[in-house]
Amino acid sequence: KEHKVKEQLNILEQATAFYQQQLASSPERQKAIKYLQKRGLSDKTIQHFQIGFSPSGWDNLLKHFKNLPNPQAQLQSAGLVVHNEEKNRFYDRFRDRIMFPIRDVRGRVIAFGGRVLGDEKPKYLNSSETDTFHKSRELYGLYEARQATRQLSKIMIVEGYMDVVGLAQHGITWAVATLGTATTEQHLNRLFKVVSELIFCFDGDKAGRTAAQRALDIALPTIQDGQTVKFLFLPEGEDPDSLIRKEGQEAFEQRISQSLTLSEFFFKSQTEDAQLESLDERAKFANSALPKIQSMKTGLLKQMMLERITELTGLSQTQLSSVVNLHQASHP
Ligand code: GTP
Ligand code: MN
Ligand code: MN
Ligand code: MN
Ligand code: MN
Repeated sequence: KEHKVKEQLNILEQATAFYQQQLASSPERQKAIKYLQKRGLSDKTIQHFQIGFSPSGWDNLLKHFKNLPNPQAQLQSAGLVVHNEEKNRFYDRFRDRIMFPIRDVRGRVIAFGGRVLGDEKPKYLNSSETDTFHKSRELYGLYEARQATRQLSKIMIVEGYMDVVGLAQHGITWAVATLGTATTEQHLNRLFKVVSELIFCFDGDKAGRTAAQRALDIALPTIQDGQTVKFLFLPEGEDPDSLIRKEGQEAFEQRISQSLTLSEFFFKSQTEDAQLESLDERAKFANSALPKIQSMKTGLLKQMMLERITELTGLSQTQLSSVVNLHQASHP
């Protein structure tokens, strides 16, 4: 098994070099270079993230690795080649895409994300899952962020590859992205081993706002005193990449400094369109908010958030928790 993992990592490293080479010398390189220019990326940024290009065609990678003992099976288990069962044919998974290597904390390439150059679907494609690559666990850009700053103090969590890369292009080199999946407790625990402050910054659209709500629900029971979680909301239609390109680093940093803290976002979202003068709505608010706060780890922040509920409802903590606990118990 260990031998197999080594073999996979070795193939992935060589594939990274191959895709980079293609960006430099493939007959199709012009359109890829043009695309990266259009996205505003400098050579330095492209190098920093080892971005490459997979040319069109079904077997460029297979041909490149033809001297392996068993190229089809080995590339397949590295997640780079797909087997069509019906036709019993093997073909390159990534064709005609910009290639983003996904590196683990030690800098070893464990997978790729690939983006089309136009509007084709799917827009992004990831390597298939392998022994070394579990999509829901990984964070794109974490290795690069640690390379860029010796002692990171905070990390921004964004949605996409291009957000990480676009922010780095404009001097914000401490962003990471989940790979098209929701933020998990695992993600948070991993990041809190590196820094004590996390800032979520999702796209300014409905999906992004839903993702922020979900991140809040994950963060509440996870964080401890001494750990900070913040939320930065972007104008409708913008994502971190599009916005920093428009506004530049300074304006974006200004926004960062105005991010909502976890408790600010929590109470804002819990009391949004609630008429707290009305007893009915106050009860509804407390019934929704209290269980969430009770899910938090014991600490000062939890105490203070409970205190805030007593201010907003006019009830004591004892009154609140007796009633809401009963309510929870009868509706498991
Ligand atoms: P650009 O259009 O290149 O700026 O990409 P984006 O990062 O803004 O993409 P978007 O906001 O649409 O999606 C965010 C992230 O979700 C991407 O970076 C991908 O990781 C993932 N994603 C988006 N579209 C797809 C898709 O079609 N398939 C898969 N597997 N993932 C996707
Ligand atoms: Mn989006
Ligand atoms: Mn984008
Ligand atoms: Mn986006
Ligand atoms: Mn989009």
